[in-house]
Amino acid sequence: MKRVLSGMRPTGPLHIGHYLGALGNWVRLQDEYECFYFVADWHALSTMYDEAETLAEYTEEIVKDWLSVGLDPDRSTFFLQSAILQHAELLVLLSMITPLSWLERVPSYKEVRQQMAHKDLATYGFLGYPLLQTADIIIYRANYVPVGIDQLPHLELAREIVRRFNFMYSSITPGRDSEQAGQATAAGVFPEPKELLTEAPKVPGTDGRKMSKSYENAIYLKDPSNTVWEKLRPMVTDPARVRRTDPGDPEKCPVYELHVFFTPDERKKEVAHGCRTAGIGCIDCKKVLYEELEKVLSPLREKRAELDMQPDLVKQILSNGNDRARKEAERTMSDVRDSIKLYTS
Ligand code: TRP
Ligand code: SF4
Repeated sequence: MKRVLSGMRPTGPLHIGHYLGALGNWVRLQDEYECFYFVADWHALSTMYDEAETLAEYTEEIVKDWLSVGLDPDRSTFFLQSAILQHAELLVLLSMITPLSWLERVPSYKEVRQQMAHKDLATYGFLGYPLLQTADIIIYRANYVPVGIDQLPHLELAREIVRRFNFMYSSITPGRDSEQAGQATAAGVFPEPKELLTEAPKVPGTDGRKMSKSYENAIYLKDPSNTVWEKLRPMVTDPARVRRTDPGDPEKCPVYELHVFFTPDERKKEVAHGCRTAGIGCIDCKKVLYEELEKVLSPLREKRAELDMQPDLVKQILSNGNDRARKEAERTMSDVRDSIKLYTS
């Protein structure tokens, strides 16, 4: 089975934008691939070094979010980046053969620094972010990496690093057991990882801008039912529809954009017609959306309530996953050390 690996930074609870984008994909990939999914807490530190104390709680939340949407620890491996020290070892070794210019030209380096101008990101760790990501991926010899379009330059860098490493340290024929043999060939330790491009649907938040924690416009997977309604009720609509008697245009309305994701065709058509003819008011329309959204969210909430009843479950799941991941990572590192011909003592 081909191997998939992806990670998420624990920067906050997950919202319906994550659900419609990355998470839904991750769940489906479990059917076809051997999946490794991890919490990238070291990556989160690259920008949140001054809020480090929040990461543990967010790690717990994110894993609960994962489990609630149907990511399955019996089929996939869930682990915590900072528990697998081999990632750091590989990062050190890769850093020796990585030209600075390769890192400086990764577009996110300049872009994120501009977006986060209030924060000092002139750090070694931040420049090295995509190299750590490379280590995350190739240490598991992952074949595919589900990511959004913003991550493509990171995948491109990972492939360049793989080619450089394999070229420089190619002499080994790793002695590995038959099951895994063939993943590493005489050509080098690492296969080139390919992206599985996750189409990032444009999901509007309650203010009409892109849904995002930082805009405080997000509907979270763990929001209680009444909170969801409190967020939907004042949600921005077609600005031209001021009075109940004004007809509206669903194409100009973020509420309708959410209907597109959550409301079945028939009902969606009714809503659109009601809007254009002023047959329904915005509150009626939002009630329909609320109902449809609840069909998706309430099972997640139930699952989450079950998880909350087992206080150590997340720790157990991560601990099992860490053990599985560590074994894989160590196996690769043993080949890596051999191929570099480091002294074995
Ligand atoms: N950089 C990724 C993001 O911001 C997170 C990440 C870290 C990742 N390491 C990874 C994703 C390895 C895929 C594979 O979304
Ligand atoms: Fe938007 Fe619905 Fe109001 Fe039309 S009726 S403007 S689609 S909220």
